[in-house]
Amino acid sequence: MDLDSHQFLSFFEPPQTAKLREIAIVEKFSDRAVIFEEGAESDSICLLLEGTVEFRKQISPDQYQTLTQAFPNAFFGELGLLDGKPRSMQAIASGFATVAKIPGAGFMAVLEETKGTVVTQLCSYMIQRLRSNTEEYVHQLVHKEKMVLYGEMLNTVIHDFRSPLSSINLASSIIKEQHPDLDTVEWCELIAAQTQRMTAMAEEFLEFARGHTVMHQQPLDLAILLQRLEKLNRIFLEQSQVELEIDCPSGITINADEDKLLRVLQNLTTNAVDAFKEQGGHIKIKAVEKDNQVEITLRDNGPGIPASIQARLFEAFVTHGKANGTGLGTAIAKSIIDAHGGEIDFVSHPGQGTCFYLRFPLMPF
Ligand SMILES: Nc1ncnc2c1ncn2[C@@H]1O[C@H](COP(=O)(O)OP(=O)(O)O)[C@@H](O)[C@H]1O
Ligand SMILES: [Mg+2]
Repeated sequence: MDLDSHQFLSFFEPPQTAKLREIAIVEKFSDRAVIFEEGAESDSICLLLEGTVEFRKQISPDQYQTLTQAFPNAFFGELGLLDGKPRSMQAIASGFATVAKIPGAGFMAVLEETKGTVVTQLCSYMIQRLRSNTEEYVHQLVHKEKMVLYGEMLNTVIHDFRSPLSSINLASSIIKEQHPDLDTVEWCELIAAQTQRMTAMAEEFLEFARGHTVMHQQPLDLAILLQRLEKLNRIFLEQSQVELEIDCPSGITINADEDKLLRVLQNLTTNAVDAFKEQGGHIKIKAVEKDNQVEITLRDNGPGIPASIQARLFEAFVTHGKANGTGLGTAIAKSIIDAHGGEIDFVSHPGQGTCFYLRFPLMPF
């Protein structure tokens, strides 16, 4: 949209609209470019013309929490101008954004000569937005509380799981010793690998619920990791009539936590299999080096992610159409990829399948 059709200008009478238009400075921001920092001086009001803007608060030195988003025709940053306080959040472009900035002094001058009804309209708009932000905040708080509860529950469950899991492990190693033929050894190793996976999974849930991720990063050959994924899932995939195709040249190395990355790929694979709803399907995992990055794509030919949850897919507890969905799979995947300094996103259209993209910085040599 252009500046003339922005709703903010429509609040004012023509002479004031003309003045605001005159002093506005239109700026373009690329993906993840900061529009203003939290704590910075409030020196302008911003009208969003194109793209999306995220508002985030820093919660630790390397962690931000996104509180809300703005879309074209929204305006933001006016509260600081009115009460003279610094910016309460960081504003950052998501994808890209075109913003018209109206300098604070100019805006205040225009406001001085504005009719009372205009000011009332502006106030009512701002109050409405504050209300919806507060609602969103409360919603997130409730989510957090839920996570703590999940954490406590999981803690108990994990403790109870440990002993049967180690019995299974022990039994498989005894069978392996008593029947050292190749076939039995291989099956027993699979049992051991799966029980270890269950322990790792449970512990990761716990870590996620506690809100931090302890990383053990080291150089990792992707082709080997993908072989491991294939082996761990062979029976599961066969039973679900799902074909898994892996296309990864040898020698692609990234600095990653092997178990955690396996968890990400596992969560995405399981989601694809779930989406096929026992009808069978095809999953292709491909890894390439491109633009100083390693890109892993995981593509399925399933029904696609429901449009209603796409925008919030990576949030915890967002689940759809599953009796036992926790809504944690993609949230865990994102937290792990974030902890690697990587990126995760997806493209999905109804009836046309889904493709997840994971990007990592190439290992410096
Ligand atoms: N590949 C996919 N195809 C179709 N829908 C998907 C796919 N991946 C995820 N989804 C949808 O996203 C939801 C959230 O996934 P996730 O975060 O892993 O939680 P859960 O699997 O526990 O529901 C799923 O319930 C499903 O509706
Ligand atoms: Mg899942």
